[in-house]
Amino acid sequence: MSDNSTEIKQDRVLTDEDWKGKWEARQIGFHEKDVHPLFSEFLDEIINGKTKLNIFFPLCGKAVDMKWLADMGHNIVGVDVAEMGMKEFFEEQNVPYVEETVAEIPGAKVFKSTSGNISLYCCNIYNISDSIVGRFDGIWDRGALVAVNPCDRKRYANLLLSLQNKDSRHLAVVLEYNPNVITGPPFYVPESEIEELFGSTCNFKLLKKIDAITDRQRQWGLDYYYEKIYLITPKS
Ligand SMILES: C[S@@+](CC[C@H](N)C(=O)[O-])C[C@H]1O[C@@H](n2cnc3c(N)ncnc32)[C@H](O)[C@@H]1O
Repeated sequence: MSDNSTEIKQDRVLTDEDWKGKWEARQIGFHEKDVHPLFSEFLDEIINGKTKLNIFFPLCGKAVDMKWLADMGHNIVGVDVAEMGMKEFFEEQNVPYVEETVAEIPGAKVFKSTSGNISLYCCNIYNISDSIVGRFDGIWDRGALVAVNPCDRKRYANLLLSLQNKDSRHLAVVLEYNPNVITGPPFYVPESEIEELFGSTCNFKLLKKIDAITDRQRQWGLDYYYEKIYLITPKS
């Protein structure tokens, strides 16, 4: 397999409408009903005994991890283009919420828990900036870097870097599979890409690699499928 063939197979571009269509068609096989096991295993890499941290969930979907962390007293900000996922999050988690407009982003909405510690912005992530959502102590990226259009990865990584406090800690789950078999998403993200995106300003460390293949991936034609979790921290 050459790197070149990888690029050719993995050059798909999805629009906001494509993602909203997936939610409407219930093509949300990425959603997990339980807290992600790698998140619970490595949570302390972000939290480390601290309280009331600001944690960012890029491309959040309706990840139950957000409620889990909010219940520990942290402040959660998520961003996703699909309003359907946000409403389902609050309804399924039994969290009362209000809906507001976002003055800085025409057409965007923010769904806020009435308790105030979960704010989910409904818009394209590239409309977000630190002047709107502030800066974060931690980032949980599962299903995000692997969902971003490969041509937008640099923009996405730079955005995350611009939203981080100087001692922020970022956990990212990426996937390793044969990119000649499927186009994605989820897209294959090799370690060379983590280096390319974050290496000039951050240290990164592979914390764990797990065999994550299930019948879902076998039906796609894959015969291996690994989840890898990286800790990415700013160089001091
Ligand atoms: C693979 S899903 C993962 C959702 C969630 N992180 C999880 O683990 O369940 C990717 C999500 O990103 C959203 N999305 C894709 N591109 C986006 C963009 N440019 N801006 C905001 N949301 C986007 C989709 O609507 C979808 O909910």
